[in-house]
Amino acid sequence: MERNTMTTPLLMFVLLTLPSYSAHGQVNPFGIPVSVHAGKFYGTSPRDHVCGGLNYDVLEYTCCEGVPHNGAGLSCCGNRAFNLTQASCCEGQLTLNVSQLVSDCCGFRAYDPLNQLCCNSRILNRTHPHAKCCGKECYNEDHQLCCGNIVKGRKVLTKMSSHHRCCGDHQFDQQSHCCCSEPLSPEPLNASCCESSSSNLTEIDASSPNCMPGERPCGRGVNPKTEGCCVNPPSFLVQPYSHHPNSAGTRRHNPGVYNGASCGSQVYNPDIKICCAGKLSNRVLGKNLCCGTTPYAVEERRVLCCNQTLHRGVEAGHQCSPGGHLYLPSREMVCESHVHLNDPGKHCCGEETYNPKDEICCNGHKHRRLGNMSCCGGKAYDPSSGQMKCCAETLYNLQVQDRLSEEAQCCGSVLMEAGSTCCSAPGLDLLYPTQSGFTCCGHRYPNSSLWSCCAGVLHPRTERNTTSMNMIPGPRLLPLGDLKTEDLCYTEVLLGTVESVSVNKNKRSIVMVNVMSMQATCGPVNALPAPQYLTLPDHCSSPELVPGNTYLWVKTRHFSDTINVISDLSDHSSPLHSILFRCSKLYIEPC
Ligand SMILES: *[C@@H]1O[C@H](CO)[C@@H](O)[C@H](O)[C@H]1NC(C)=O
Ligand SMILES: *[C@@H]1O[C@H](CO)[C@@H](O)[C@H](O)[C@H]1NC(C)=O
Ligand SMILES: *[C@@H]1O[C@H](CO)[C@@H](O)[C@H](O)[C@H]1NC(C)=O
Ligand SMILES: *[C@@H]1O[C@H](CO)[C@@H](O)[C@H](O)[C@H]1NC(C)=O
Ligand SMILES: *[C@@H]1O[C@H](CO)[C@@H](O)[C@H](O)[C@H]1NC(C)=O
Ligand SMILES: *[C@@H]1O[C@H](CO)[C@@H](O)[C@H](O)[C@H]1NC(C)=O
Ligand SMILES: *[C@@H]1O[C@H](CO)[C@@H](O)[C@H](O)[C@H]1NC(C)=O
Ligand SMILES: *[C@@H]1O[C@H](CO)[C@@H](O)[C@H](O)[C@H]1NC(C)=O
Ligand SMILES: *[C@@H]1O[C@H](CO)[C@@H](O)[C@H](O)[C@H]1NC(C)=O
Repeated sequence: MERNTMTTPLLMFVLLTLPSYSAHGQVNPFGIPVSVHAGKFYGTSPRDHVCGGLNYDVLEYTCCEGVPHNGAGLSCCGNRAFNLTQASCCEGQLTLNVSQLVSDCCGFRAYDPLNQLCCNSRILNRTHPHAKCCGKECYNEDHQLCCGNIVKGRKVLTKMSSHHRCCGDHQFDQQSHCCCSEPLSPEPLNASCCESSSSNLTEIDASSPNCMPGERPCGRGVNPKTEGCCVNPPSFLVQPYSHHPNSAGTRRHNPGVYNGASCGSQVYNPDIKICCAGKLSNRVLGKNLCCGTTPYAVEERRVLCCNQTLHRGVEAGHQCSPGGHLYLPSREMVCESHVHLNDPGKHCCGEETYNPKDEICCNGHKHRRLGNMSCCGGKAYDPSSGQMKCCAETLYNLQVQDRLSEEAQCCGSVLMEAGSTCCSAPGLDLLYPTQSGFTCCGHRYPNSSLWSCCAGVLHPRTERNTTSMNMIPGPRLLPLGDLKTEDLCYTEVLLGTVESVSVNKNKRSIVMVNVMSMQATCGPVNALPAPQYLTLPDHCSSPELVPGNTYLWVKTRHFSDTINVISDLSDHSSPLHSILFRCSKLYIEPC
């Protein structure tokens, strides 16, 4: 990693998590804070290419406790492999449809701590954002007490006033009573036992983890009587990742150049020696260029330096290929590391050659060209046939699944099934089973009576705060391929790169550069001068935007100033072409 400063904790978090997240399946390129438990499931496959005593290919398989599984970079749960965006592992057991990135464990089952609570190994639905466990039940500290003890059992009592506290199984008013031990009972303040007893016994529950999302239970050895059993650690501290920013050890020093005296570890006289890549040679007048470790002169004949290797006796017309191969352009072509004989009309596709007239090259794989083909990852398909759907470079056959292309939607690289909901944060798309009353907030899927959401950030709802329940629905963030033709082609759309974002009185103002506009019904494309400003009327209900990313902004039909749909085009190689191609088909037919 070539980054030199670590200024803020946030940046540090990103730096520390990047290697472990993005190296394996690009799960979280933006370092979105995720469940602390997820960390231990990254990169669990052994690096030594040996699985259960046999060699294996880390680019094809994942090895879990000696068992190889198809698919690289998966996580292990015991000897099973799983994708941590789709399942969770607790005590060696898998829970499907709950991503490890957002889950906690309750015994051997995973749960979503935003919406659920784990009390004595029971998963309960959260009824309040700050609900905690009371034995096997949950309670709300604001108007309830959890009294009793582990031995006799705990009881949830409705607080008679905000001054009431527990005393054994009962509650008492702190202002008029104290809690006396032996026997445990509330007594009036003038009772003699009140002088000695400190009146604050027993309202404690640290026996089971009841932490808020993002917190973790305190470790063992912590006095359970202390109030907070949960700590909110700076995320970067809890990554199971030891990082030594040992930059001194990696700083390079240029051998030989400055003092005119050292070549690697050797000292030499530059008048009689020349140093090339750490190797000393006798100085020959005119030979003042290095090719790897060999000195040579620019005017030398029939000599060519390709990829730091000096080729001598080279015949006229030869050149170095971009990859560093010596070849004869009039007779040969180089595809990656393979040299082929020239064949008119052929081009490179990976290491092979192909003929673009009747073949299509997708990520180095060639296919026969049939109709209007496009690439989807390394595969080719005809998007207009409506039989295939491409989700982030993964191709799905809709016919096999008996589905219509207009309905099919992508969640990252996954084709969504009925009854599931896709929640997206920049760089992370997670699927959840759809539940009524739940709404996406970035990549999380909270119960919206418990949590409100502002631009991907969760806020607990309190009783006092129900006003923001009926938010104006903001623009949706959809993949380009999921945009409906009528939205894309019969409205004015803008393409532009977000330069900066600011929020003022809940309005979000966006500065955009490189903006192009396409008028409704396949009109002309115009380049607009920079900067262009765009306002989203409700910051909170709008998706998070990443400065530097390019987005498509689709206005609402008939209300031409409201943005209806936003699509992140950053990973799209040719968005403008895709849009024009889709809309131009309409132009021929109905327009
Ligand atoms: C896990 O699944 C996601 C889609 O949900 C996919 O993008 C990712 O590549 C998968 N990761 C691995 C390691 O297969
Ligand atoms: C997980 O989700 C898929 C698709 O939404 C569904 O078919 C499957 O039954 C679910 N599994 C569980 C255990 O809920
Ligand atoms: C939690 O809510 C879900 C959905 O409403 C329901 O199916 C489930 O039974 C509830 N679980 C408990 C423990 O109440
Ligand atoms: C969502 O939260 C509300 C409010 O506390 C609660 O009544 C409801 O049971 C929760 N729904 C689920 C499925 O957990
Ligand atoms: C405590 O005070 C109450 C009235 O405030 C009185 O009736 C009671 O006798 C007192 N008890 C003791 C032990 O002094
Ligand atoms: C318990 O009571 C003592 C004395 O009444 C007080 O100093 C202490 O802060 C109290 N502890 C808590 C946790 O309220
Ligand atoms: C270029 O040189 C490097 C280092 O010697 C080597 O790893 C690489 O394979 C060479 N490339 C070609 C195309 O020969
Ligand atoms: C490809 O698309 C163009 C424009 O939409 C159309 O005119 C042409 O017929 C298509 N070709 C095939 C083979 O489908
Ligand atoms: C109500 O919720 C909004 C965000 O949803 C928050 O900004 C505001 O401060 C909350 N008000 C109260 C009184 O909690």
